[in-house]
Amino acid sequence: MVSIARAHPNIALVKYWGKADDELIIPVAGSMSMTLDKFATTTTVELTASADSFELNGSRADAKATGRTTVFLDLVRRLAADAGLETATASAKVTSVNEGPTAAGMASSASGFAALAVAAADAYGLKLSTKDLSRLARRGSGSASRSLIDRFAVWHAGTSDETSFAEALAAPEMAMVSVTVNAKAKKVSSRDGMVATRETSPYYQAWIDVTHKTLDEMIAACAADDFTRVGEITETHAHRMHAVIQATEPPIRYLAPVSWQVFDEVAAMREDGLEAYATADAGPNVVIICRPDDAAAVAARVAAYGAVETFAPGPGAHLVDTA
Ligand code: DP6
Repeated sequence: MVSIARAHPNIALVKYWGKADDELIIPVAGSMSMTLDKFATTTTVELTASADSFELNGSRADAKATGRTTVFLDLVRRLAADAGLETATASAKVTSVNEGPTAAGMASSASGFAALAVAAADAYGLKLSTKDLSRLARRGSGSASRSLIDRFAVWHAGTSDETSFAEALAAPEMAMVSVTVNAKAKKVSSRDGMVATRETSPYYQAWIDVTHKTLDEMIAACAADDFTRVGEITETHAHRMHAVIQATEPPIRYLAPVSWQVFDEVAAMREDGLEAYATADAGPNVVIICRPDDAAAVAARVAAYGAVETFAPGPGAHLVDTA
């Protein structure tokens, strides 16, 4: 019996950066994202009598990734024990394939833990709702909570394991154009960067306060189907996240000179009447949002800066039929 799940990365328009609880992965503020329709992770989980194992993209994963997988499987086994299932003591063989670049700021941990949550829950015999799968995926990587959700998701920060989960929200029609300026793994992980920001950035409290407000504004702009406002909020919030991160000691800087050139190019597009807005996660790659009909024109304008991909809103994490 094997369980196979497929999940896509998501890109946040309102960013998650900072934890109120490191162990439970409760964020300091809520966030909002679009799930992509490409760069999927497909994960197979098979229960076994031997030790846990984790293979990523055809090779045995390194000790760190394997350790994070085992810690996550322990959570699933705990849920199985609570449900009185015999599977609770079983180990698991996990095989995962990423179609996108791993750990380069294209949210591979989000699709990875979302796929693992769905496949492992099924393999261990748990029957979980989407909300409970989102809570489970969150324990692997915070942003993974949002990859459970079709199209657009809001992750409610919550104050406990029960209240911190993502759910769907309707948003204006849009496409995303990613510009991968550098596909190499990033220097400081989001996990470590968040701790450094909390410990040393003097702007951390301001960032938390503004993110609460920004999420409210984003939810209102989505309800009003106001693409322009959604775009403006997205670009401003990305700059604010990179500002709070840059104020750490020693400084962390995720954006490269070429990333700023892409931001400038997006501003130039707007001056030319091509409405687009840019954001970037914890790496140098830039993601542009635009109206679906403008995606080809936007992609053409940034093709010189790196590898370009165009995305539509995609599906939440789901089981793949093995019958
Ligand atoms: C910049 O979800 O990867 O992409 O919870 O520590 O695993 P952990 O962090 P992670 O952080 C994502 C940070 C971000 C912004 C976002 O996706 O909201």
